[in-house]
Amino acid sequence: MLILGIETSCDETSAAVVSNCSDILSNVISSSLHLHKRYGGVVPEIACRHHTELINIVLEKALKKAKVSLEDIDAVAVTQGPGLVGALLIGISLAKALSYSLKIPLIGINHLHAHLYSAMMGPEPPELPAVGLIVSGGHTSLVYLEKPETVQLLGQTRDDACGEAFDKVAKILDLGFPGGPIIEKKAKRGSSARIRFPRSYLEKDSLDFSFSGIKTAVLYHTQRLKAQKKRIPVSDICASFQEAVIDVLVDKTRTAIIKKRPRSLLIGGGVTANKTLRDRLLKMARSKKTDVFFPPTGMYMDNAAMVAGLGCLLFSNKAFSEYTMSAEPGLNFCNKQT
Ligand code: KG4
Ligand code: ZN
Repeated sequence: MLILGIETSCDETSAAVVSNCSDILSNVISSSLHLHKRYGGVVPEIACRHHTELINIVLEKALKKAKVSLEDIDAVAVTQGPGLVGALLIGISLAKALSYSLKIPLIGINHLHAHLYSAMMGPEPPELPAVGLIVSGGHTSLVYLEKPETVQLLGQTRDDACGEAFDKVAKILDLGFPGGPIIEKKAKRGSSARIRFPRSYLEKDSLDFSFSGIKTAVLYHTQRLKAQKKRIPVSDICASFQEAVIDVLVDKTRTAIIKKRPRSLLIGGGVTANKTLRDRLLKMARSKKTDVFFPPTGMYMDNAAMVAGLGCLLFSNKAFSEYTMSAEPGLNFCNKQT
C-alpha cells in the first residue's frame, strides 16, 4: 500500500511516499525558514508564495526518490489543519486534484496527530495505550491514545506554545529566529542555577500549560539589567529559561503518566529536537517504567512522511474525506478528558 503525503501547514513544503504505514520511501522537505528570519517570525504571504513555487517540484522529487509514479499511489493524505489557512489550501488543492484525476481516496490529516504518529514510525512500534506530548511552535498538548487513531485531549496551553516561548525569548535577547535551536546552544554555555524564572503549574493536578508568564519574566529581567547598565548574561538566561520550561513539561507529563498509567510515552513536534528535553523525559519515564518513543531522526520538524504514515492508518480504516473538505486552521483534538 503506497500513500502520498502532502504537508504545507506552515513554512515547510513537503511531499513523501510511505509504504505499509511506516516504511518511508521518500520525505522531501523544502523549508522557507531562511526567508522569514529577517522578520523574526513566519510571514504567511512569504510562506504561501514559497509553497506555490515549490510544491510541484517537491512532489516530483518525492516520487522520483521513492522510485514510483503517480499511478502507483493508492491514496493521497494532506494536512487539513491546524496551520496558516492560505498555506493549508495550497496543499489541499493539490491533493484534491490528484485524488480526483487519479481516482484515489483523499484523506485529511490533523497535523498534531501526525506529529504524534511520527513517534510510532520507528523500527519498534510502541505498545498502547500511550500518553502523548506535542511540543511545537503553535501547540503544547498532552493527550491519551487508546488506539493509534483515537486521541483524547488531556491538557493544552492556555496562552503561548512552548516553541513560541523559545522564539519570543530569543527575540527579547536579539538571538534571531527560530529561537529554539539557538537558545539550546547558548544554554550549554550557561548556568541554570544563577537565575530562577517562575514555573507556572496552574491549578493543582491541571494538565494545562501556560508559558506567557516566563516570557514576561525574561523580558523584565533583561529590562532591569539594561536600566542598571549591567551586562546581560545571555547564556545564563537561556539556561535558566530552558530549565524552567523543561521542568514544567516533564512534571506535567509525569502527572499524566501517573493518572493514565500508559504503556508508552510518545513525543512529537519541533521542540522534540531539544536534547535536554529528550534526556529529561527519558529519565522521568524510565523512573515510571514507561517506554519512550521519539520520531525518527529528521522527522522532528514539519514533514509529509508523518502525514502519509497517519494517512495509511486512516486508509486501512476507510476514513476518507469528501471533496467538500477544506482547510481547518484551528483544528484541535475535541474531547478533553481528565
Ligand atoms: O513542529 P514545528 O516544526 O512547527 C510547528 O508546527 O510549530 O516546531 C517549530 C518550533 C519553533 O518554535 C522552534 O523554535 C522550536 O520548534 N524548536 C526548538 C528546537 N528546535 C526547534 N525548541 C527548542 N529547542 C530546539 N532545539
Ligand atoms: Zn508542526
